[in-house]
Amino acid sequence: MQHGDAGYHIPVLLERSIEYLVSDPDGVYVDGTLGGGGHSSALIRKLGKNGRVFAFDQDEDAIEHAELLFQDDARMTVVRSNVVHLSDVLNAHDVKAIDGILLDLGVSSHQIDTPQRGFSFRFSGPLDMRMDRESTVTAAAYISQRSEEELADTFFTYGEERNSRRIARAIVRARAEQEITDTAQLADVIASVTPQAHRSKTMARVFQALRIAVNDELGVLERTLAASMERLRVGGRMVVISYHSLEDRIVKRFMRHEAADCICPPRVPVCTCGKIRRMEIITSKHVEADEIEIRGNPRARSARLRAAEKIHA
Ligand SMILES: C[S@@+](CC[C@H](N)C(=O)[O-])C[C@H]1O[C@@H](n2cnc3c(N)ncnc32)[C@H](O)[C@@H]1O
Repeated sequence: MQHGDAGYHIPVLLERSIEYLVSDPDGVYVDGTLGGGGHSSALIRKLGKNGRVFAFDQDEDAIEHAELLFQDDARMTVVRSNVVHLSDVLNAHDVKAIDGILLDLGVSSHQIDTPQRGFSFRFSGPLDMRMDRESTVTAAAYISQRSEEELADTFFTYGEERNSRRIARAIVRARAEQEITDTAQLADVIASVTPQAHRSKTMARVFQALRIAVNDELGVLERTLAASMERLRVGGRMVVISYHSLEDRIVKRFMRHEAADCICPPRVPVCTCGKIRRMEIITSKHVEADEIEIRGNPRARSARLRAAEKIHA
C-alpha cells in the first residue's frame, strides 16, 4: 500500500509534514498518532536502513491494522499506548533521544465511520467515544455523571456551542426519564432544542466536545508536547497537525514559549527571567491544505500544521 490504507484514513498534509519532520534519514522518529499508518508509511519510505519509527496509537484497531501493514519492516515498532507515555516506552526500548515527533491529532475516519465506536451522530451506536477502549469513562458515563453546569461548560468550551446551557438542560431532563446510552438518543435530545437548520452543525459541535472531554485530548496534548520536548535531540523536529482551534492554540503557545528568549513582563528594563530559547519555529504561520487536497479529502479543510526545531537542550 502506497500511503497506508486510504480506506482506513486519508493522511492529511502528507508531503509537507514528512518533509518538515525528517532531518536525518537514519534517525529515530515517533509517530504519536498512527491511525491508518499513512504518515508512518511515508515516513518510513523516507528513512535509510538504520532509521527507526515508534508508532503509537491507543486504539487497538489501529494497532492490528498497522501490525499487518508493517509486518515486514524491522525499522517499525508499533506501540499500543497513549503517546503521552512516550518517555516510558522509549526507556523500555533503550532509546534516549529522538530526531522527530509527528502528532496528527484527533480521530481517524475509521473511528468516526464505525458506528460501534459512537463518535458520530450520523450513525446509531453505543455512546462510547473512547479512543482507548480500556479506559473507563465512556461518553454515556460522562453524560450521566456530570452536572448540568459541567455539561454546558464542556459544550461551550470544547464545542464553542452557544446553546450549550439549553442543550445541557435538555440532557439532564431526558436522562432523568431514561439513561442516555446511544448516539441516536443524544442526537434526538439535541434536535429537540435546536432549530432544524442548525441541527447538523450543533450535533457536530456537541459530539466533538464530548469526544475531547472523554479522551482528555487537550490535557494529553499539553503533556505530550512537554514530554516530547525533553526527548527531542538538538536539531530534532516537532510537527503537529491539529483540527480544532483550542488544540492549535496549545501548539502555537507551546512553540512560541519555547522559541522565546525572554518572558519578563514588558516593562522590566533588564531581563531577569533567565529563559533559554530552545526552539526555532519553522512554520512562521501555520500551514493549511490547498484546495486540491481539500477537494479530495474534506477533512483536510480544518487542518493546521505547525513545525519547530529544537535548537537548545
Ligand atoms: C487523525 S488520526 C491519525 C491518522 C494517521 N496520521 C494516518 O495517516 O492514518 C489520529 C489517530 O491517533 C490516535 N490518537 C489520538 N490521540 C492519541 C494519543 N494521545 N495517543 C495515542 N494515539 C492517539 C487515534 O486513535 C487515531 O487512530
